[in-house]
Amino acid sequence: MAEDLKVAAGTKEEQFLGLLPQIKALLEGERDLVANMANFVAALKEQFNFFWVGFYLVKEDELVLGPFQGPIACTRIRKGRGVCGTAWEKAETIVVPDVEKFPGHIACSSLSKSEIVVPVFKEGSVIAVLDVDSSELESFDEIDQRYLEAMVKLINW
Ligand code: SME
Repeated sequence: MAEDLKVAAGTKEEQFLGLLPQIKALLEGERDLVANMANFVAALKEQFNFFWVGFYLVKEDELVLGPFQGPIACTRIRKGRGVCGTAWEKAETIVVPDVEKFPGHIACSSLSKSEIVVPVFKEGSVIAVLDVDSSELESFDEIDQRYLEAMVKLINW
């Protein structure tokens, strides 16, 4: 049985460093993808208390909502639309300090103020994106980018 998450204190980097091995351990004994995505987003939400953390999965020509933690969200996003669809199209991480200044941002909740979206690659293609939303402006930077990009790779896609 999985142990409780030990929420790490300290700077953002220290928190990520505390969380990384725990996520690794959490994913190691399980090969079911939905179970792993579900625990992954729960662990991130618990550590940082982000407003919304979730995966969208590439299904045919759209992103479809996957496991998430937070308020209900839009279920389908087209390629190139919003932050998620743009991260998919460009196949790169997008950091949005102020969602109101991102043209085409999809507001699933008016409480979301800043956002980071990290693409997940398999065999060179984007197969999913991790979306993390904050209720505060400018919550994300290159530290989040670096650790979140490393963390999504821990899931056996
Ligand atoms: N804001 C995202 C949509 C997903 S929700 O925020 C959960 C976007 O613009 O792609």
